[in-house]
Amino acid sequence: MTAPGAVVARALTAKGALLDPAWHRAVLAVPREAFIPETVWVRTRREGRTVFAPYPRTDPDVQAWMHQDYALMTQVDDGEPAGPGGTGIVPTSSISQPSLVAAMLQALDAADGEKVLEIGTGTGYNLALLCERLGDGRVVSVEVDPVVAEQARRTLAELGYKPTIITGDGAAGVPGCGPFDHVLATVGAKQVPPAWIAQTQPGGRVVVPWGPGFTSAALLRLVVDEDGSAHGRLLRDAAFMWLRDQRRPVDDWRDHIDETAPALAAGEVTVNPRVVSDPDPGWGVALGHLVPELAAHTAEASEDNAEAVGEATVRLYDRAGSWGVGEYTPAGAPYEAQRCGPRDLWAEVTAARTAWEEAGRPGRDRLGLTVERDGRQVLWVDDPTKPLD
Ligand SMILES: C[S@@+](CC[C@H](N)C(=O)[O-])C[C@H]1O[C@@H](n2cnc3c(N)ncnc32)[C@H](O)[C@@H]1O
Repeated sequence: MTAPGAVVARALTAKGALLDPAWHRAVLAVPREAFIPETVWVRTRREGRTVFAPYPRTDPDVQAWMHQDYALMTQVDDGEPAGPGGTGIVPTSSISQPSLVAAMLQALDAADGEKVLEIGTGTGYNLALLCERLGDGRVVSVEVDPVVAEQARRTLAELGYKPTIITGDGAAGVPGCGPFDHVLATVGAKQVPPAWIAQTQPGGRVVVPWGPGFTSAALLRLVVDEDGSAHGRLLRDAAFMWLRDQRRPVDDWRDHIDETAPALAAGEVTVNPRVVSDPDPGWGVALGHLVPELAAHTAEASEDNAEAVGEATVRLYDRAGSWGVGEYTPAGAPYEAQRCGPRDLWAEVTAARTAWEEAGRPGRDRLGLTVERDGRQVLWVDDPTKPLD
């Protein structure tokens, strides 16, 4: 008889994404299709904007995708689709991409007999894998959305799994059920909640998609120290939806920048305004960490304007009243710039670029994070004694 998860497992082993035999056995045992709800939400364009359109699970594409290495969105806008014509704007729950699920479980590296807290139950697929690997009694999961949590409980029960699923804010962990050997967050965090570290045994791991939010998250594996802090490296891409209260609104630079406002400080900057779009993942993490809440938008000059060819207007803002506009020209520095609000975002970007360059332009694989007992986050290069600041 074919194993219930054989097709998904084959997709992962073919990519070299499932190297631990214990997790391979778990993937083989769990039928991923059982966790796909009646409707999934597929990214598309409507009325000039990106939205998520409802597709029934019976759709032939959905039937194919559920066995392949794709994430599928399973809820939008916290269950109340807010886009045009019944579409959704923000995906708020999903069944994650199997190769990312496998990477996270293998990074967690839980051993027989260990107890794991999962944050973000979602459909329950990852939780079923944890149940297969460790046993129902050794896994606890927290889901903030009551409808999502209830659906996961039902699906898991139908398949014979009975883990503890708690409906609530996973940022608080589950104080009464710890300590845990490890915590696995299947939802992204910009600030790692201190409760996850406090509820993990010293030596245990906290695996979480983490990022300061300027770029999408990377997979962070923290090891908890005896003193209640935790340290660890960034391992790979791990684009995830953020913890519900760490999300940013879907908005536009025009909501935050009024270029007609009086009292603009106008001047020049020497930093190339285009550095905010440097795609180096190490820079993206450094910039987001060193310039908190930064958002940026680059508008290229029209190709029809021969005099402005190659030029661009780069806008920075923090959604709290500070913003800056820089005019890039291929003629080079200095660049005209303006700013408004209490923060000088151009100065902060310049300082961040200098710090990153002086550290040797570290790629993301050289970066790590310390989370102190009080939740303070310190980004470092190569080892925790070398903070990037
Ligand atoms: C990517 S999905 C999880 C995927 C899931 N583990 C699976 O296997 O299907 C992220 C989930 O985290 C949940 N979530 C968001 N913020 C949360 C919070 N503060 N506490 C607990 N769950 C949260 C979302 O509702 C969503 O269901």
